[in-house]
Amino acid sequence: DAVFVRPGSTPESDVRKALDGLGFFNERFGYPVPSTMTDPTPMIADMRLRKSADEAKELRRACEVSAEGHREAMRVARPGLYEYQVQAAMEYVYRMRGSMRDGYPAIVAGGDNACILHYNENDQILNDGDLLLIDAAAEIGQYSSDITRTFPVNGTFTAPQRAIYEIVLAAQHASFEVAAPGSTIKAVHDASARVLTEGLVDLGLLPRSVEESLAMHHYREYFMHGTSHWLGLDVHDAGPQWKNRSPVLLEVGMSFTVEPGLYVDPNRDSVEFSLYESDTDEAVARRLEMGTAAAKAFDDEAKAKAESVSLEIPEEFRGIGVRIEDDLLMTAGGYENMSAGVPTAIDEIEALCAEPPLTSAL
Ligand code: GLY
Ligand code: MN
Ligand code: MN
Repeated sequence: DAVFVRPGSTPESDVRKALDGLGFFNERFGYPVPSTMTDPTPMIADMRLRKSADEAKELRRACEVSAEGHREAMRVARPGLYEYQVQAAMEYVYRMRGSMRDGYPAIVAGGDNACILHYNENDQILNDGDLLLIDAAAEIGQYSSDITRTFPVNGTFTAPQRAIYEIVLAAQHASFEVAAPGSTIKAVHDASARVLTEGLVDLGLLPRSVEESLAMHHYREYFMHGTSHWLGLDVHDAGPQWKNRSPVLLEVGMSFTVEPGLYVDPNRDSVEFSLYESDTDEAVARRLEMGTAAAKAFDDEAKAKAESVSLEIPEEFRGIGVRIEDDLLMTAGGYENMSAGVPTAIDEIEALCAEPPLTSAL
C-alpha cells in the first residue's frame, strides 16, 4: 500500500494532497489508497540491470548500426579531413539505418585530443601519422550502444602506436575471459589493469615491477577511468555495481561495456611516481569515516610524504591515446559481444581503412 515517489521529484505536501483526494473513493467504494511513500529508484535500477529478450534485441540492433558507422569512419578518415566530417559520415549511416539520434555526444579525437577523455569539440583537422580515437554510437528504440575504436588517420599504425594499441587490445581480451555470469565488473576491471600494467612495464613506462605498480596504482597515470559501466536505456545505465559492500554478481541479461585504454600525456616529458602503496578497501573505509574531502587530503598527504621516482617518457609515446570499447551481454554460456561488427585486430582495421568509403561521391 505504498505510493512510489522519487524523493525531491514532487513536494511531499502535493503527494499528501493527492492521496487525501482519493480518501473519498476509499470511504465510499473501498478502493485501497496508499498510506506510505516509497522511493522507486532502487527497485527500477535493479530491474534495469537485467535486460529482457526484447530489450536485448534493441541493444543488439543499436550495436550493429553503431558498428556499421564505425566501419564507415575507418574508410572515410584521411589526412586533411576535419574530425566533424568523419562524425558526419558515421551519423549518416546511423540515420539511414533507422537511428533517430546518437546515444551520447560523439568523441572524434585526432592525435593528442585522444588524451582528453571527454573531448567533444570535434573541430580539428586530422593529421597524417596521427591516430583517431572515436567513441560514438547510435540509439535504437531508446537503447544506446557505446563503442570506441582507435585507428590511424592514414591507415597504417606506426611502431609506437602499434605497441600501445596491442597492450590495450590484450587487456580487453583478458577482461573478456573473465566476463561471465557469476563473475563481477571488478574482476573484469582487475583483468584489464593487470595486462595494461604488464605492457607498460615492458615498454619502460612504469618505474617498478608489475606487482608493485599494481599495489601503488601507478597504471592510473595512463588509465584513469573505469573499465566498465552498465549499458541500456542510458549509455551509463542505472543500477549499482556494488551491493552490501560486495561487487554485484553478473547474471544472464546484464549488459556492460569493456573499455580499457592508455593515454600518454602529450605535454609531459617525465612523470613523478609516488612510491605509496594504498589498499583500495581501506581507502573506501577512510572515505566513509572521514568524508570524501578529508580522505582525499589524507591520501594526498601520504602520497606527498612517500618517496617518489621520476621517469622520463620517451617522446615517441607522447600524445598517443588508445581506447577500445565493446558492449557485452551476459549469456548462459558466457557473453555475447554485441559490437563485434567493427574489428579491433590491427590487420583487419588496416584493411578496412584501405576500403573506399560508401559515401565516396562527396
Ligand atoms: N561514451 C562514454 C563512455 O564510454 O563511457
Ligand atoms: Mn563507455
Ligand atoms: Mn564510450
